[in-house]
Amino acid sequence: MTARDWFDRAQKEGFAIGAFNVDNMDIFKAVCLAGKNKKSSVMLEFSQGEVSYFGLKNIVDLTVNARQEYGIPILLNLDHAKSAEDCIAAVEQAGFDDVHFDGSDLPFEKNVEETKKVVENAHKKGLLVEGEIDKISTLSEVHNEEIDLELLKKSYTDPTKAAKFVKETGVDILAAVFGNVHGIFPVQPDLDIDLLSKIREAVPSCFLSLHGSSGIPADQVKTAINVGKIVKVNLNTELRVAYREAIGEELSENPEEYASYKLASDVILAVAAVVENKIDVFGSAGKI
Ligand code: 13P
Repeated sequence: MTARDWFDRAQKEGFAIGAFNVDNMDIFKAVCLAGKNKKSSVMLEFSQGEVSYFGLKNIVDLTVNARQEYGIPILLNLDHAKSAEDCIAAVEQAGFDDVHFDGSDLPFEKNVEETKKVVENAHKKGLLVEGEIDKISTLSEVHNEEIDLELLKKSYTDPTKAAKFVKETGVDILAAVFGNVHGIFPVQPDLDIDLLSKIREAVPSCFLSLHGSSGIPADQVKTAINVGKIVKVNLNTELRVAYREAIGEELSENPEEYASYKLASDVILAVAAVVENKIDVFGSAGKI
């Protein structure tokens, strides 16, 4: 099944596929293991920093090998690429299923122009393209500062603008912004589900993704999947937190161990437990 087939099915059956950021090799293994344990397809995704750590070709080769090793459908996504050229490089590399061109820093017309370039290239090779018009300005980390809700609301997706963007670019997936932010905050903003249903109506033939799912309570994520027919839910910070906590514990429990791979198995299990829980929330368990 292609990524489009998976998302079509997810939309019909009311579940979403987790798009999990891969920060390092332990997290890579944890996501694949969780998918296997839960009989779920998973999407591996790599942000710009994560791509520069792994290298584009390694990412594809590792994913191809993992599909065989774990025996589950593993989709591959380039996450928040800020240049059309980076997206086209991933398209040319072959092995990706989806590229996310994040032109939200650009003026609307320039974003349309660049996104169209990516769509033209990606569609020739059968890849999906995710587009974005609203900037999620926070990083995937644990924040101590409070969110300014009034300011945040200014960056929410305008359904009319979203419809124009989807029509003019031909993107397959839209990264909708309606209270979702990257990272975990002392008080996580609530999702604006009314706005989500308006966005859904405005772009009926486009898949929707939910970025920044770390820290959002499970019931809100489930409602968003249900109301917005969201098919892709991105998760990063909670994986990074689980990894840091687990590696910290391993290092303090094994002060004389210098072979880091010997510490990895418990770390992988700890991160996999988080992914398994998310797979349950997203509803993709048992779908393969
Ligand atoms: P979180 O770090 O909030 O989970 O967001 C990740 C994300 O949306 C990556 O695109």
